[in-house]
Amino acid sequence: MCGIYGYIGTDADAASVVVSGLQKLEYRGYDSAGLAIIDANHNLKILKQVGYVSELNRLVFKKSKELIAKVGIGHTRWATHGRVNKANTHPHIDCHKQIAVVHNGVIENYRQLQRQLIEKGHRFTSQTDTEVIPHLIEEFLAEGLKFRQAFNQALSRLVGAWAVAVISELDLDTIWIGRHSSPLAVGIGDSQLYLSSDARAFDHQVGNIVFLEDGHLGSLSVRRGLKLFNLKGKPINYTLINKNGLDKIEMDKNGYDHFMLKEICQQPQVCRQSYQGRIDFKEKKVVLGGLFNYNSQIKQSRFIGFVGCGSSYHAGLLAEIIGRELGLSTFSLDSSNFGRADVDKYVLNNSSLFYLSQSGETSDTLNALKIIKLETQALNLGIVNVVGSSLARQVKAGVYTRAGIEVGVAATKSFLTQVLIGLITAIYIADLKGMKIKSRQRLFQDLKQLPNNIEKVVGLSKEIKQLAKRILSVDKFMFLGRRLAYPIALEGSLKLKEISYKFSYGDKLGSLKHGPLAIIDKDNLVIAIVFKHDTDLSKNISNIHEITARKGRVIVMGDVNQSSLPRSIEDFIKLPSLSTAWLTPMVAAVGVQLLAYYLALLLGKEIDRPRYLAKSVTVN
Ligand code: M6R
Repeated sequence: MCGIYGYIGTDADAASVVVSGLQKLEYRGYDSAGLAIIDANHNLKILKQVGYVSELNRLVFKKSKELIAKVGIGHTRWATHGRVNKANTHPHIDCHKQIAVVHNGVIENYRQLQRQLIEKGHRFTSQTDTEVIPHLIEEFLAEGLKFRQAFNQALSRLVGAWAVAVISELDLDTIWIGRHSSPLAVGIGDSQLYLSSDARAFDHQVGNIVFLEDGHLGSLSVRRGLKLFNLKGKPINYTLINKNGLDKIEMDKNGYDHFMLKEICQQPQVCRQSYQGRIDFKEKKVVLGGLFNYNSQIKQSRFIGFVGCGSSYHAGLLAEIIGRELGLSTFSLDSSNFGRADVDKYVLNNSSLFYLSQSGETSDTLNALKIIKLETQALNLGIVNVVGSSLARQVKAGVYTRAGIEVGVAATKSFLTQVLIGLITAIYIADLKGMKIKSRQRLFQDLKQLPNNIEKVVGLSKEIKQLAKRILSVDKFMFLGRRLAYPIALEGSLKLKEISYKFSYGDKLGSLKHGPLAIIDKDNLVIAIVFKHDTDLSKNISNIHEITARKGRVIVMGDVNQSSLPRSIEDFIKLPSLSTAWLTPMVAAVGVQLLAYYLALLLGKEIDRPRYLAKSVTVN
């Protein structure tokens, strides 16, 4: 998490350029924000504010006369070490207040480094791990090293994840940068250079982009341009990527109250753009150009795996269930709970793995990829939204989800497209393997109708808002579902707790009687997701009876006929009916998203920026 932005060039308004970059990166963290510039008198100046970047912006505006500068770096923070306060806000500085550092990531050995530095007389003013960096540079400078050498030495002492930018009044016309396991990109324009944690945030002046790889260090200066080198100081060649290939961060709500609602309502269109050119409706075939070169390897893979965390894991879980129903040997892994000890060589060596991620920068998923790459022969592929992201660059090939920019922290359209791409990928692989797909005709018909059916759920907004009003006082929720409805129950529960801060728990409907039934009472509310194509539909009905018989409150959301449900349920949201089973979860996903949204709205929560969270989780 955290976002870094920087500017060096001929424009004397570096502070404003940096703040407007930070505004686009705010989705990465919004606890506090700060910046550093070298002013016209060659002095280092630091500005910090707790709260959103808009607070920092206000300060920059107020002090604009003192902030004439052609070089600046800034940071928007998602707190990892130390409380949310000014002292812990980046940039961090050395004892002599001459070196300023912004950092994204976690320095695992900072305590040990801090101890050594304190013994040498350094004074620390924050609780952060980052503060060791300016002191380390200061220490190496005091030993007589040049700035570049001191910077190299400092970074080579760090264990963990870092994307770092440094400016100093001791080295006026340079921004020093480095990356290990946290994203960083450089944007190149005419006589100006930019740096950012996310290339989509670059100013329109940027023509070309360079993505730093792990272990890349560099310097940005107007005179010398961009120079990259490794930790040993050896120069590194880099490739320029044209910025036109990347989406821009879209900061417009288009009349919606929240990005989340805009993104929910965009889903019919997003769904069309996601499968456009990938489904041949006439031939009833899936065409995934991104996987062509690996067709034979995929075909030979004994197992197909899906790896991700949070909502991306839920999408992987659905792909696993659908894949299995298609006849594939599928499995899913939660990357947030994956470590070396989980490497099953027999399975992974014989697997094609699809890593699911909206951002493509999630540390847990990148770590899983790293381990699997090192330890196994698996074929690593991606289902990623952000073009050019770390994950997209580190897998062999893949399929972009084409959800467009998602600003709201809660995954909505990105989740839907992951499920959609997961489904069509499973169909593609089943076809590669020559498997017979039952009801192919109806399945492709459903795919064609999917955007319209999603539109119908968006059309239920009023009804869902009314339901949210009726259940506003409920404090504890249980989202339950069987088989294909289970990942949607998990997703609904995650959405609700994430933005409404209500206690919410997701589970399998069938596992209720194995324990969770004990917590059923009149103060809890069960949201049961029930699909009519579920081969065990009657078991769902019995499970609901088991809850209401114990005075439990139940609301059903699904495409079943109301007449098949117990009369004792409190409410029913009827979702549009499809003719096959595998697309109903997508339709239901929109229903649970809307329910979470309206509950959070009526509770007056900060929907697009829920507390303690950030859009892109780049720490472990
Ligand atoms: O960018 P990713 O898809 O890799 O992110 C994974 C999770 O952090 C993410 O899905 C998270 O759970 C969402 N905020 C949930 O709405």
